[in-house]
Amino acid sequence: MRDTLPYVLILYYSRHGATRSMAEQLAAGVESCTGIEARLRTVPPVSPTCEAVDPDIPAEGAVYAELDDLRHCAGLALGSPTRFGNMAAPLKYFIDATSALWLNGALVDKPATAFTSTSSLHGGQETTLVSMLLPLLHHGMVYAGLPYSETDLMTTAAGGTPYGASHVAGQRSDRPLADSESRLVHAQGKRLAHLALALVRMREEAR
Ligand SMILES: Cc1cc2nc3c(=O)[nH]c(=O)nc-3n(C[C@H](O)[C@H](O)[C@H](O)COP(=O)(O)O)c2cc1C
Repeated sequence: MRDTLPYVLILYYSRHGATRSMAEQLAAGVESCTGIEARLRTVPPVSPTCEAVDPDIPAEGAVYAELDDLRHCAGLALGSPTRFGNMAAPLKYFIDATSALWLNGALVDKPATAFTSTSSLHGGQETTLVSMLLPLLHHGMVYAGLPYSETDLMTTAAGGTPYGASHVAGQRSDRPLADSESRLVHAQGKRLAHLALALVRMREEAR
Protein backbone atom coordinates (compact mmCIF):
# COMPACT_ATOMS: atom_id res chain seq x y z
CA MET A 1 0.00 0.00 0.00
CA ARG A 2 1.59 3.32 -1.04
CA ASP A 3 1.46 6.27 1.38
CA THR A 4 1.58 9.00 -1.28
CA LEU A 5 -0.38 9.45 -4.48
CA PRO A 6 1.38 8.81 -7.79
CA TYR A 7 2.04 11.99 -9.74
CA VAL A 8 2.42 13.17 -13.30
CA LEU A 9 5.46 15.40 -13.70
CA ILE A 10 4.78 18.39 -15.93
CA LEU A 11 8.24 19.59 -16.82
CA TYR A 12 8.38 22.72 -18.92
CA TYR A 13 10.43 25.70 -19.95
CA SER A 14 8.74 29.01 -20.69
CA ARG A 15 10.25 32.42 -21.30
CA HIS A 16 7.13 34.51 -21.92
CA GLY A 17 4.48 32.43 -20.17
CA ALA A 18 2.71 30.74 -23.09
CA THR A 19 4.11 27.26 -22.45
CA ARG A 20 3.52 27.82 -18.75
CA SER A 21 -0.21 28.49 -19.43
CA MET A 22 -0.36 25.22 -21.31
CA ALA A 23 1.41 23.42 -18.45
CA GLU A 24 -1.12 24.77 -15.95
CA GLN A 25 -4.06 23.71 -18.10
CA LEU A 26 -2.53 20.26 -18.60
CA ALA A 27 -2.16 20.04 -14.81
CA ALA A 28 -5.89 20.79 -14.44
CA GLY A 29 -6.57 17.84 -16.75
CA VAL A 30 -4.40 15.57 -14.61
CA GLU A 31 -6.06 16.79 -11.41
CA SER A 32 -9.51 16.09 -12.86
CA CYS A 33 -8.72 12.39 -12.30
CA THR A 34 -8.90 10.86 -8.85
CA GLY A 35 -5.95 8.97 -7.38
CA ILE A 36 -3.19 10.95 -9.07
CA GLU A 37 -1.60 14.39 -8.72
CA ALA A 38 0.11 16.88 -11.01
CA ARG A 39 3.60 18.12 -10.14
CA LEU A 40 4.64 21.26 -12.06
CA ARG A 41 8.36 21.89 -12.43
CA THR A 42 10.43 24.11 -14.65
CA VAL A 43 14.09 24.31 -15.65
CA PRO A 44 16.46 27.29 -15.41
CA PRO A 45 17.64 29.15 -18.49
CA VAL A 46 21.08 28.16 -19.76
CA SER A 47 23.75 30.74 -20.47
CA PRO A 48 27.42 31.01 -21.40
CA THR A 49 29.72 30.92 -18.37
CA CYS A 50 30.37 34.68 -18.64
CA GLU A 51 26.70 35.44 -17.89
CA ALA A 52 25.26 35.84 -14.39
CA VAL A 53 23.57 32.85 -12.77
CA ASP A 54 19.92 32.98 -11.73
CA PRO A 55 18.66 32.57 -8.15
CA ASP A 56 17.87 29.03 -6.96
CA ILE A 57 14.14 29.78 -6.85
CA PRO A 58 12.54 31.36 -9.93
CA ALA A 59 10.71 34.67 -9.44
CA GLU A 60 7.43 33.18 -10.70
CA GLY A 61 5.94 29.90 -11.84
CA ALA A 62 6.97 26.43 -10.77
CA VAL A 63 10.18 25.62 -8.88
CA TYR A 64 13.10 24.01 -10.67
CA ALA A 65 12.97 20.28 -11.29
CA GLU A 66 15.32 17.85 -9.61
CA LEU A 67 16.31 14.51 -11.08
CA ASP A 68 14.25 12.75 -8.39
CA ASP A 69 11.07 14.49 -9.61
CA LEU A 70 11.60 12.65 -12.87
CA ARG A 71 12.85 9.40 -11.32
CA HIS A 72 9.71 8.84 -9.25
CA CYS A 73 7.01 10.17 -11.60
CA ALA A 74 4.19 7.92 -12.83
CA GLY A 75 4.00 9.86 -16.10
CA LEU A 76 5.70 12.78 -17.79
CA ALA A 77 4.47 15.75 -19.83
CA LEU A 78 7.30 17.72 -21.42
CA GLY A 79 6.59 21.29 -22.54
CA SER A 80 8.79 23.66 -24.53
CA PRO A 81 8.49 26.75 -26.69
CA THR A 82 9.58 26.05 -30.25
CA ARG A 83 13.10 27.24 -31.00
CA PHE A 84 13.96 26.96 -34.68
CA GLY A 85 11.65 23.98 -35.01
CA ASN A 86 13.19 22.24 -32.02
CA MET A 87 12.84 22.12 -28.23
CA ALA A 88 14.47 24.92 -26.24
CA ALA A 89 18.05 24.44 -24.98
CA PRO A 90 17.22 24.65 -21.23
CA LEU A 91 14.93 21.62 -21.47
CA LYS A 92 17.41 19.72 -23.64
CA TYR A 93 20.13 20.56 -21.12
CA PHE A 94 18.06 19.04 -18.30
CA ILE A 95 17.30 15.93 -20.36
CA ASP A 96 20.97 15.52 -21.23
CA ALA A 97 21.67 15.14 -17.51
CA THR A 98 19.36 12.12 -17.12
CA SER A 99 21.85 9.36 -18.01
CA ALA A 100 21.65 7.88 -14.50
CA LEU A 101 17.90 7.34 -14.95
CA TRP A 102 18.50 5.78 -18.36
CA LEU A 103 21.12 3.40 -16.90
CA ASN A 104 18.66 2.28 -14.20
CA GLY A 105 15.67 2.07 -16.54
CA ALA A 106 13.82 4.38 -14.13
CA LEU A 107 11.38 5.61 -16.79
CA VAL A 108 10.75 2.35 -18.64
CA ASP A 109 7.02 1.63 -19.24
CA LYS A 110 5.92 5.02 -17.95
CA PRO A 111 3.66 7.13 -20.21
CA ALA A 112 4.85 10.44 -21.63
CA THR A 113 3.61 13.23 -23.81
CA ALA A 114 4.77 16.63 -25.07
CA PHE A 115 3.36 20.09 -25.76
CA THR A 116 4.71 23.21 -27.40
CA SER A 117 4.07 26.84 -28.23
CA THR A 118 5.14 28.77 -31.34
CA SER A 119 4.89 32.35 -32.50
CA SER A 120 3.53 31.42 -35.91
CA LEU A 121 0.99 28.87 -37.10
CA HIS A 122 3.41 26.94 -39.30
CA GLY A 123 6.49 27.64 -37.18
CA GLY A 124 7.45 24.04 -36.47
CA GLN A 125 5.10 22.69 -33.80
CA GLU A 126 5.16 19.11 -35.09
CA THR A 127 8.93 18.99 -35.53
CA THR A 128 9.38 20.32 -32.00
CA LEU A 129 7.04 17.70 -30.57
CA VAL A 130 8.89 14.97 -32.44
CA SER A 131 12.23 16.32 -31.15
CA MET A 132 10.86 15.97 -27.62
CA LEU A 133 9.57 12.46 -28.24
CA LEU A 134 13.00 11.08 -29.23
CA PRO A 135 14.73 11.14 -25.81
CA LEU A 136 11.54 9.82 -24.19
CA LEU A 137 11.67 6.75 -26.43
CA HIS A 138 15.34 6.23 -25.54
CA HIS A 139 14.23 6.16 -21.92
CA GLY A 140 11.73 3.40 -22.74
CA MET A 141 8.70 5.58 -22.09
CA VAL A 142 5.35 4.91 -23.76
CA TYR A 143 4.54 7.97 -25.86
CA ALA A 144 0.92 9.13 -26.01
CA GLY A 145 -0.09 11.96 -28.33
CA LEU A 146 -3.64 13.18 -28.85
CA PRO A 147 -6.23 10.95 -30.57
CA TYR A 148 -8.67 12.31 -33.18
CA SER A 149 -11.50 11.28 -30.88
CA GLU A 150 -10.69 14.74 -29.48
CA THR A 151 -12.86 16.40 -32.13
CA ASP A 152 -11.11 19.78 -31.77
CA LEU A 153 -8.18 18.24 -33.63
CA MET A 154 -10.27 18.10 -36.81
CA THR A 155 -11.56 21.65 -36.66
CA THR A 156 -8.85 23.72 -35.00
CA ALA A 157 -7.56 26.74 -36.89
CA ALA A 158 -5.06 27.36 -34.07
CA GLY A 159 -2.82 24.82 -32.30
CA GLY A 160 -3.46 21.12 -31.71
CA THR A 161 -1.73 18.13 -33.31
CA PRO A 162 -1.91 14.33 -32.95
CA TYR A 163 1.70 14.48 -31.69
CA GLY A 164 0.64 16.57 -28.71
CA ALA A 165 -1.03 19.85 -27.80
CA SER A 166 0.26 23.10 -29.24
CA HIS A 167 -0.45 26.80 -29.03
CA VAL A 168 0.04 29.68 -31.41
CA ALA A 169 1.23 32.46 -29.10
CA GLY A 170 1.63 35.16 -31.78
CA GLN A 171 4.54 37.39 -32.66
CA ARG A 172 4.65 38.94 -29.17
CA SER A 173 4.06 35.58 -27.46
CA ASP A 174 1.11 37.08 -25.62
CA ARG A 175 -1.92 35.49 -27.26
CA PRO A 176 -3.99 33.57 -24.69
CA LEU A 177 -4.86 29.92 -25.28
CA ALA A 178 -7.69 29.55 -27.79
CA ASP A 179 -10.65 27.58 -26.44
CA SER A 180 -9.80 24.60 -28.63
CA GLU A 181 -6.11 24.71 -27.59
CA SER A 182 -7.18 24.83 -23.98
CA ARG A 183 -9.56 21.88 -24.33
CA LEU A 184 -6.94 19.82 -26.13
CA VAL A 185 -4.17 20.35 -23.60
CA HIS A 186 -6.62 19.63 -20.77
CA ALA A 187 -7.66 16.39 -22.51
CA GLN A 188 -3.99 15.51 -22.94
CA GLY A 189 -3.43 15.85 -19.19
CA LYS A 190 -6.48 13.76 -18.39
CA ARG A 191 -5.47 11.04 -20.83
CA LEU A 192 -1.91 10.96 -19.50
CA ALA A 193 -3.21 10.63 -15.94
CA HIS A 194 -5.44 7.68 -16.87
CA LEU A 195 -2.58 5.99 -18.70
CA ALA A 196 -0.22 6.62 -15.80
CA LEU A 197 -2.64 5.00 -13.33
CA ALA A 198 -3.14 2.01 -15.62
CA LEU A 199 0.60 1.52 -16.07
CA VAL A 200 1.25 1.90 -12.33
CA ARG A 201 -1.19 -0.99 -11.80
CA MET A 202 0.46 -2.98 -14.58
CA ARG A 203 3.93 -2.58 -13.08
CA GLU A 204 2.66 -3.45 -9.60
CA GLU A 205 0.99 -6.65 -10.89
CA ALA A 206 4.15 -7.64 -12.74
CA ARG A 207 6.22 -7.46 -9.53
C1 LIG B 1 15.70 31.57 -30.48
C2 LIG B 1 14.23 31.49 -30.78
C3 LIG B 1 13.78 30.67 -31.81
C4 LIG B 1 12.43 30.62 -32.12
N1 LIG B 1 12.01 29.79 -33.13
C5 LIG B 1 10.72 29.78 -33.48
C6 LIG B 1 10.27 28.95 -34.56
O1 LIG B 1 11.02 28.18 -35.15
N2 LIG B 1 8.97 29.01 -34.90
C7 LIG B 1 8.06 29.84 -34.25
O2 LIG B 1 6.91 29.88 -34.64
N3 LIG B 1 8.46 30.57 -33.18
C8 LIG B 1 9.75 30.57 -32.79
N4 LIG B 1 10.15 31.31 -31.72
C9 LIG B 1 9.14 31.98 -30.89
C10 LIG B 1 8.78 31.16 -29.66
O3 LIG B 1 8.35 29.87 -30.02
C11 LIG B 1 7.68 31.83 -28.84
O4 LIG B 1 8.20 33.03 -28.34
C12 LIG B 1 7.22 30.91 -27.74
O5 LIG B 1 6.28 30.00 -28.26
C13 LIG B 1 6.64 31.58 -26.57
O6 LIG B 1 6.56 30.60 -25.54
P1 LIG B 1 6.85 30.99 -24.05
O7 LIG B 1 5.90 32.14 -23.73
O8 LIG B 1 6.50 29.77 -23.26
O9 LIG B 1 8.28 31.39 -23.91
C14 LIG B 1 11.49 31.38 -31.38
C15 LIG B 1 11.95 32.18 -30.31
C16 LIG B 1 13.29 32.23 -30.02
C17 LIG B 1 13.75 33.12 -28.87
